[in-house]
Amino acid sequence: MICSRAPAKVILFGEHFVVKGKPAIATAVDLYAETCIEESEDYIVESKQLGLKFSIFGTSIPPSLLQFRKAAELVMNLAGSTRGFHAVVDSEIPVAAGMGSSASTIVSFIHALLSFYGFKPELSLVNKMAFEAEKIVHGKPSGIDNTVATYGGTLYYKKGQIERLDVKWPRSLSIVVVDTGVKRSTKSIVREVLDLYEAHPSIMSKLYDVAEELVNEARRRLVEGDFTSLGQLININQGLLSAIGVSSREIEEIVYRLRSLGAIGSKLSGAGRGGVVYGVFTDLNKDLLKKVFRNYTVYLVKPINEGVHHRIL
Ligand code: MEV
Repeated sequence: MICSRAPAKVILFGEHFVVKGKPAIATAVDLYAETCIEESEDYIVESKQLGLKFSIFGTSIPPSLLQFRKAAELVMNLAGSTRGFHAVVDSEIPVAAGMGSSASTIVSFIHALLSFYGFKPELSLVNKMAFEAEKIVHGKPSGIDNTVATYGGTLYYKKGQIERLDVKWPRSLSIVVVDTGVKRSTKSIVREVLDLYEAHPSIMSKLYDVAEELVNEARRRLVEGDFTSLGQLININQGLLSAIGVSSREIEEIVYRLRSLGAIGSKLSGAGRGGVVYGVFTDLNKDLLKKVFRNYTVYLVKPINEGVHHRIL
């Protein structure tokens, strides 16, 4: 049996703006999606998290598994093989919440499947195939989700180009991720933002330019380790996301609760309208955090450097 794991991501800055070619910064964090593959007569994908088990070339495959069919076609065409498999996909990353669950899952699947067919899973190939598969679910993905899941680390991403940032995350710094519990479709929110851009191009293009300047400033502050300024930039970024219409009452409530608990900055992460909100703390009172967010799922995550990799059994 071959198993591969890929990390979740938190977009620290620049989501949505990145779809139109502006830069974004994201970090891989220590929550994982994993795929284990063994030989079979058929082509089965079993998702533990979604509670689904399907023959992916069958006619009744649910839309949430279509990207697996695409990915399997890409890998099998490359291999020139029809060897059957049974892939079990499991994940601790919340679904449709902004932490890249779908990208991490597909990246782990492709990495494991390439190995199953006898390839050394080169990261650039995994990333390219995952991007093709992501298009099935997301329509117009920027590619940031699959890139972070593939390469890991804290990345500055612009138009498919990546720069690995050398960030010395202080041990005292905590990244708290709160799930609003509201599931939403990245594809339709991205579409609505692009429609808003079309409706008000001169106003929106200025907001996009500000977002670019903000992300570039954040890159400098991250590398210098100036986390106080970074917090201010996180809050400004939240304001920009609200301006383009992807915040919500639930998100704002969590953003302000995190700030009142002492977060140096807090914003939504991912597509918005629900999903997750993150806060950065230099001094976290965990008991108070638990109490304030007792009705939510909260993750205390750590940035990690490693992207997709085999899990040695
Ligand atoms: C989704 O995780 C991030 C968005 O910027 C979409 C994308 O970059 O493809 C909203």
